[in-house]
Amino acid sequence: TRSSDQEDLPHATKRKMADHLRRLETMFTLTPQRMRMIVEAFKDALEIGLAKPGQVVPMIPTYVFGWPSGKESGNYLAVDLGGTNLRVCLVTLQGGGKWEITQTKYRLTEEQKHDEGQLLFDFCAECLKTFVESSIESGQIQRGATLPLGFTFSYPCSQDKIDHGVLIRWTKGFGAPNTEGHDVVEMFKRSLEKHSVPAEIVALTCDTTGTLIASHYVNPTTKIACIFGTGCNAAYMERASDIPKISSLGIDPQDEIAINCEWGAFDSFEHEHLPRTKYDTIIDEASNKPGEQAFEKLISGRYLGEILRLIICELIDEGVLFLGQNTYKIEIPYSFDTAFLSLMESDPTDELLMIIGIFSHFFALETTLAERQFFRALAKLVGRRAARLSACGIAAIVSKMNYLEEGCAVGADGSLYNKYPGFADRIHEGLVDIFGEKGRNITTYHAEDGSGIGSAIVAAMTKNRKEASIY
Ligand code: GLC
Repeated sequence: TRSSDQEDLPHATKRKMADHLRRLETMFTLTPQRMRMIVEAFKDALEIGLAKPGQVVPMIPTYVFGWPSGKESGNYLAVDLGGTNLRVCLVTLQGGGKWEITQTKYRLTEEQKHDEGQLLFDFCAECLKTFVESSIESGQIQRGATLPLGFTFSYPCSQDKIDHGVLIRWTKGFGAPNTEGHDVVEMFKRSLEKHSVPAEIVALTCDTTGTLIASHYVNPTTKIACIFGTGCNAAYMERASDIPKISSLGIDPQDEIAINCEWGAFDSFEHEHLPRTKYDTIIDEASNKPGEQAFEKLISGRYLGEILRLIICELIDEGVLFLGQNTYKIEIPYSFDTAFLSLMESDPTDELLMIIGIFSHFFALETTLAERQFFRALAKLVGRRAARLSACGIAAIVSKMNYLEEGCAVGADGSLYNKYPGFADRIHEGLVDIFGEKGRNITTYHAEDGSGIGSAIVAAMTKNRKEASIY
């Protein structure tokens, strides 16, 4: 048997690992020049998305008009169907940028993501019903009241009003049939009625739009919101006059509308601009949506662990790693969680004890120190590339909107942003590589909860507009 710490690898194996690391460094490193090229192409994609309907980056007008006043108030329900969890919330907006929230989270199973679409909405309605009933019990909700509901559905939906949205395509590994091409608000309404849930859907939002609004509610210098989680996306506020594809709708050109970019789709299908490696191609081709979400597949939490796992598996096949050990566990697709990359990068011990733990506990594999250092270096390459590509997306919006000189705050949320060590710093470094010193004018910060609070604020803004008959 191999002992993980005393015995080291033969010199030839170490040399091979060093060669591979050099090769992978070249593949995964983005030079400032390359980043600037990506930004230019990205900017064009944003413009085209605003100009014509049905483009690769769909640039969806969300029918959220302008910023919140900060005075929004009242009780709202929020249902958040994200990439990994379902969350139901009761939000009390108190005005003055303050609120209270109570919530319950449910983990979604892989089966639910692929079962009949209507069943997924039934599940949302059932969970909401349980939550509402217990809130009535505890006196937080009045019996007999029908509460306004903000529905955060974080997948691309084309909207022609705020309480309507046709799912363009599932992302993040979802594939529930009979949902794409359907109005998801209608579907959810059906489920709410079926289960007699006392809630009225007033607004459909995406997590990014909610984040934009919630962040601005407390920090008015916020101009862009991003999610770096299971998926990856951004939203910002656009002038109606700069959205040619809605020019015939009679919206006041002076109005501002939040745009859900759905930038995860950048460079889909043609794959002309992004530095895809063979590992990225394997992930794409094996996914339930080959060709789609090309940008997201290089960045988001759903895929980073899988990229690292594919590199490791390649080196197992070449006889460089884990010779003589049974590697079947690590050969299972998606068995390597992105959280492991975070842990590997943050391991503070000289011996890299956390990495020993990950490999022995989850994969029944013993590692030498040299291997652990190698894995940590790989995690860094994959994590750094994701952050630098994220910087390219932010830079594209900044440069399109001319925010560089005056600067702007970017509200960011999602597991990768919140938990991956150094992710934000790497984005900031990337922005300086793209823009030079002025890149420091753009800062990201941990945003407010867009899918709960943001969704409630959007619902409140919608109610206020309705009451003022601005439609
Ligand atoms: C995916 C979804 C998008 C969402 C993002 C982050 O890209 O398509 O709507 O905002 O994930 O959750």
